[in-house]
Amino acid sequence: EKGGWSSFMAKEVSEEPEAVANTIRGRIHEGTVVIPELDGLDDLFSGISRIVVIACGTAAYAGQVGKYALEKWARVPVDVELAHEFRYRDPVIGPGTLVVSISQSGETMDTLMAVKFAREQGAKTLSICNTQGATIPRESDAVVYTHAGPEVAVASTKAFVAQITALYLLALHVGRIRDTIAAVDIAEHVRELEAIPAKIQRVLTLEQAHIEQLAHWMADTRSVLFLGRNVGYPIALEGALKLKEISYIHAEGFAAGELKHGPIALVEPGQPVFVLVPSPRHSALLHSKVVSNIQEIQARGARVIVIAEEGDAAVLPFADEVLHIPLAGAMFEPLLAVVPLHIFAMGLATARGLDVDQPRNLAKSVTVE
Ligand code: BG6
Repeated sequence: EKGGWSSFMAKEVSEEPEAVANTIRGRIHEGTVVIPELDGLDDLFSGISRIVVIACGTAAYAGQVGKYALEKWARVPVDVELAHEFRYRDPVIGPGTLVVSISQSGETMDTLMAVKFAREQGAKTLSICNTQGATIPRESDAVVYTHAGPEVAVASTKAFVAQITALYLLALHVGRIRDTIAAVDIAEHVRELEAIPAKIQRVLTLEQAHIEQLAHWMADTRSVLFLGRNVGYPIALEGALKLKEISYIHAEGFAAGELKHGPIALVEPGQPVFVLVPSPRHSALLHSKVVSNIQEIQARGARVIVIAEEGDAAVLPFADEVLHIPLAGAMFEPLLAVVPLHIFAMGLATARGLDVDQPRNLAKSVTVE
């Protein structure tokens, strides 16, 4: 079933381009987003004042990425919450709230209980799920399936990029219904989205061997930090989670702007730090701020591994390693920047002789609370 791959995870990372392509398929029509599953359900989106995204693990990081798109394109305030935290406080929700749950398996008990709770409170519910007919979509008012195909490795990879893709489609769909985004802008974002599979493939083709080599050199590393800003921030969190899950080493993700408020104290000579650099084409200011973060950690002896767009020369003098991603719209960089991090986690676990598909203490789907 692994079809020649060394692990399911390796196979599934190689399938990230088609996971995005299959999630888009049939949902773009003449430059706009048409989600057949949401036909006739416009009132799920028109009367709401707020969206709460609930999920666990990797799915929650996809939700954090989705928040940027939902707020920018659909102009709805979005909170992203861990399902188990949401459920056990007294959240302010009701008929004006749309609760969007995200789950690869559709069976995660923490997420399911939060969805049921939200319904009891009168909220509207929409599920983003990768498994046809699973329990969470059945308990929801609506479902948008990700079409990543079955994911076997415990650590989620292709489902993550498919979840972000589905959230972007949803954000454009809701923006169109609420009239918060111009048709020309929808058309441009749709074109960007359609170009993503080939760009992910380019990262795999051009950088996979380089990243695996890097992971091999770093096999004895005891801690890795990840910095990102804006949509790159949840990707930094995802990079750290993946490393914890399958390499069993300490890893933490931070918002780059937070560095000076605490985490920089962790940086000592030799500390590996991945930095996700936003394109200077979208915001020279944001780019320059992240480049100065890089200078700050490099001055303290960090081993800086930069993920930057092709042609970004400003990062070169301060980076020990540069991993390139193709040029993409600002919102679309996460779908590319996460790929090197998935490859790295897999490479490091492999270099440490670990079973990447079946990490200790973890289950693919946790059906207990
Ligand atoms: C965890 C898995 O238990 O559940 C993670 O180990 C996953 O990989 C998380 O991200 C959420 O799972 P699901 O199926 O709800 O997306």
